[in-house]
Amino acid sequence: MIIASNFKTNHNRQSTKEFMDFINGKDYFSEVRIFPPYTALNNYDLRPNIRQGVQNFYPVDSGSITGEIGFSQLEEFEIDSVLIGHSERRHVLGESQKEILKKFDFAKQKECEIVYCVGEPKEVREQGIEAVMSYIWDQFDGIDIDYEDLIVAYEPVWAIGTGLSASQEDIKEVLNMLRVKIKAPLLYGGSVKVANTKEILGIENCDGVLVGTASWDKDDFSKMIEIADNL
Ligand code: 13P
Repeated sequence: MIIASNFKTNHNRQSTKEFMDFINGKDYFSEVRIFPPYTALNNYDLRPNIRQGVQNFYPVDSGSITGEIGFSQLEEFEIDSVLIGHSERRHVLGESQKEILKKFDFAKQKECEIVYCVGEPKEVREQGIEAVMSYIWDQFDGIDIDYEDLIVAYEPVWAIGTGLSASQEDIKEVLNMLRVKIKAPLLYGGSVKVANTKEILGIENCDGVLVGTASWDKDDFSKMIEIADNL
């Protein structure tokens, strides 16, 4: 199982270090990923099953791109896991599929682990499963789904940060359809919390969770990892 925490725009350098040290001090056997904000990246001596990743990057080694972070800055922190295609970047920041693809190809060339996020907005969900899958497959446009270090995260936009997770049936239906073409591990994200982690991890073809809000508390995140460990 893979249990991942996306800090989004939360935690500072000090609280991130406390969080990382706490999680790294535990002897979990699930795979754990933590995506802090850039400003809180640090050099950690992490267990082999725990990795620090980034929520974003600009697809250059270095250059003249004011305000962006390239790979030469990330190498200092031994970053080898990246989030790409998150709904907040697609929908809030207007990142296009073309830009996302550039990032994907760059991270692939760097041999990074890529957590590639897809998911439909509410108005598409309301049109039914065919519309949902058509929307999601479009988000794979140009993406090498056979990349060996790929993890796919299905995160319906309407379930993110709303406290309202997708139903088990909805999650199962989408993951099963993704599984037909995608061999990579499949995660679910969207209002995952301690109380629903077990039932979500029990869904067919669900290989883990990508958690925002509920993972920002280290005790809750730790509980979710323990639930995965005990399955
Ligand atoms: P929430 O867990 O806050 O719904 O966020 C999910 C998410 O976007 C993880 O990437």
